[in-house]
Amino acid sequence: MRAFRDLLAAALLNVAVPVLLCIVAVPALLSIVSVPALAQEEAPKPPSQNWSFSGIFGGLDLAAAQRGFQVYSEVCATCHSMNLLHYRDLEGIGLTADQITSVAAAVDVPLGVDDQGNPKTGPGTPSSQFRAPFANEQAARAAMNGALPPDQSLIVNAREDGANYLYAILTGFRDAPAAFKMMGGMNYNEYFPGHQIAMPQPLHDQQVTFADGAPNRIEDEAHDVVTFLYWAANPDAIQRKQIGVRVVLFLVFMTGITYAVKRKVWADVH
Ligand code: HEC
Repeated sequence: MRAFRDLLAAALLNVAVPVLLCIVAVPALLSIVSVPALAQEEAPKPPSQNWSFSGIFGGLDLAAAQRGFQVYSEVCATCHSMNLLHYRDLEGIGLTADQITSVAAAVDVPLGVDDQGNPKTGPGTPSSQFRAPFANEQAARAAMNGALPPDQSLIVNAREDGANYLYAILTGFRDAPAAFKMMGGMNYNEYFPGHQIAMPQPLHDQQVTFADGAPNRIEDEAHDVVTFLYWAANPDAIQRKQIGVRVVLFLVFMTGITYAVKRKVWADVH
């Protein structure tokens, strides 16, 4: 009996101590680790914008996504790659096969090497990868004052509250407050953590003239390019939502039918 009690005590000790440690020590450790993160989070929370793709029933404003592709091509593509995209993917924002062929053909893409082993370039085809502005990371950093313009294929998903954050960054360039110490080559941005960003303000009013004549204030251009970047990072999101809605409707319908059948089958039993 005594041995059993000792065993029980030992087991309790073995279980209780780790559990207590987990409850007390882990959160304490975590809070120590998260202190530097808190210190960086001095940028204000990006205000929420009205997006075609948000909410359960959200769709994608294709015209906006196409204008956004124009903004990306004319402005952002000078510095940011989108390596996960191929021109044929643009079908997803409603471009026709002919439009895709001519968009790709207008871009000079790498085509391997020639007979002398020198890199060759030529017009792209729908299966070409989006052309990257720099040959490699070192070239990008050398041109950008040491900073790396991140690949934009997944950038909307790679930042918290991505769409609102990107919109806030693109429209958040200001003159630095007088007391603020800026480092050389940096730009003041209200929403970038630490407020100093190596990217110069990319968008301005009337910077891009849209083929469909849509308004092109800086806010419009930012809204459109974020819509495009959202689609790039979530090409199936809209379809997923539509399937989800159909599945829920189906389940509601099936529940009704099942209940009706149950009533019918059991009607005489009571
Ligand atoms: C002149 C080059 C240049 C152009 C043009 C440019 N960017 Fe950038 N971008 C940069 C650099 C450099 C960084 C890295 C900034 C840093 O780390 O301080 C950056 C960073 C970013 C970031 C990441 C911010 C973060 O949280 O890390 C986003 C988002 C972004 N750019 C979006 C855009 C969009 C959208 C466009 C087109 C409208 C654009 N950029 C045009 C150079 C550029």
